Amino acid sequence: MMKIVAIVGSLRKDSFNMQLVKTIEKRYSHLFEIEIADIGNLPFYNEDEEKSPSEKVQNYKKMVADADAVFISTPEFNWSMSGVLKNALEWLSRVDKPIAGKPVLPMGVSQGVLGTVRAQLHLRQVLGSIQATTLPPAGNEIFIGSAGQKFQDGYLTDEGTLKFLDLVVDKFVTFVKEQESK
Ligand SMILES: Cc1cc2nc3c(=O)[nH]c(=O)nc-3n(C[C@H](O)[C@H](O)[C@H](O)COP(=O)(O)O)c2cc1C
Repeated sequence: MMKIVAIVGSLRKDSFNMQLVKTIEKRYSHLFEIEIADIGNLPFYNEDEEKSPSEKVQNYKKMVADADAVFISTPEFNWSMSGVLKNALEWLSRVDKPIAGKPVLPMGVSQGVLGTVRAQLHLRQVLGSIQATTLPPAGNEIFIGSAGQKFQDGYLTDEGTLKFLDLVVDKFVTFVKEQESK
């Protein structure tokens, strides 16, 4: 079974981004298993510690290294990704670089209409720097805006959005398999 680590950029209990990941976990349980990284408990990145980081950081980096792929669901905070997400990516970017060459599917949910467009533009720029591999953005960008109207009882329920998600997830799973057979 394909193993995917999900990194969720919002720590709040009722986070829509977490609800999106939970929806994906349930809807595609026949395709992959998801493990959600506990990025809220990671220390702030510090270059002095990167060669012998705390156990929490070591476990997190190993979880990503062992995964077939990574989902990153970002909120939009002040027109960018959240600081907690950027911090989590910093740890993955150095020393053994567990995210380099790893297939990553960016996504995001916001309550505004743009659905994390600005946050994901920044996120994709950072993914370039840390050498993650992605599907081409055109046609594969998962922007979910007006979240208040699209989620119910802890899950994404908007039919149009779910159908679009089916298409992108299907392409991503194929992409991951192709990368692994290279
Ligand atoms: C500090 C902060 C900054 C925000 N900035 C933006 C923003 O720039 N653009 C936007 O669409 N929403 C913004 N929002 C609203 C978020 O989209 C909304 O809180 C969303 O629900 C966050 O994702 P979550 O539900 O996963 O926590 C901001 C919220 C907070 C708390």
